[in-house]
Amino acid sequence: MKLLIINGPNLNLLGKREPDIYGSQTFVTFFSELQMQFRNTELAYFQSNIEGELITQIQEADLVYDGIILNAAAYTHTSIAIGDAIKAVTVPVVEVHISNTFAREEFRHQSYISSHAKGVILGFGMQSYALAIQSFL
Ligand code: DQA
Repeated sequence: MKLLIINGPNLNLLGKREPDIYGSQTFVTFFSELQMQFRNTELAYFQSNIEGELITQIQEADLVYDGIILNAAAYTHTSIAIGDAIKAVTVPVVEVHISNTFAREEFRHQSYISSHAKGVILGFGMQSYALAIQSFL
């Protein structure tokens, strides 16, 4: 099983960005924990602050990975183009969020990803990613 985790804008700042919401762990540290937890799963990680790079990565992952775990961050709420990219590929995408976006500002309640996703996991902190991996196993 080969899975690609894609993180969108500002998630490179995990650990120092709004730790009350997103926790104090960097994604790089968390990713090595995930690799230890899911030893039999091939995990890859990509992060970009640029919408087009996220789209290219989704396109390139098609037929290469068994699944994508996507936290499109703020683009979730704005990007028809990322939604279209998910629709255009056959690789299944699970949408994840660290925070419970429905318990936050109204503009975070809208997602252009969810209707094209295999499923959505949100609100469990960094464990949202682990739950998303489990959903593929
Ligand atoms: C987020 C939620 C988004 O609303 C926000 O813009 C993020 C992170 C989350 O993981 O909780 O950057 O996707």
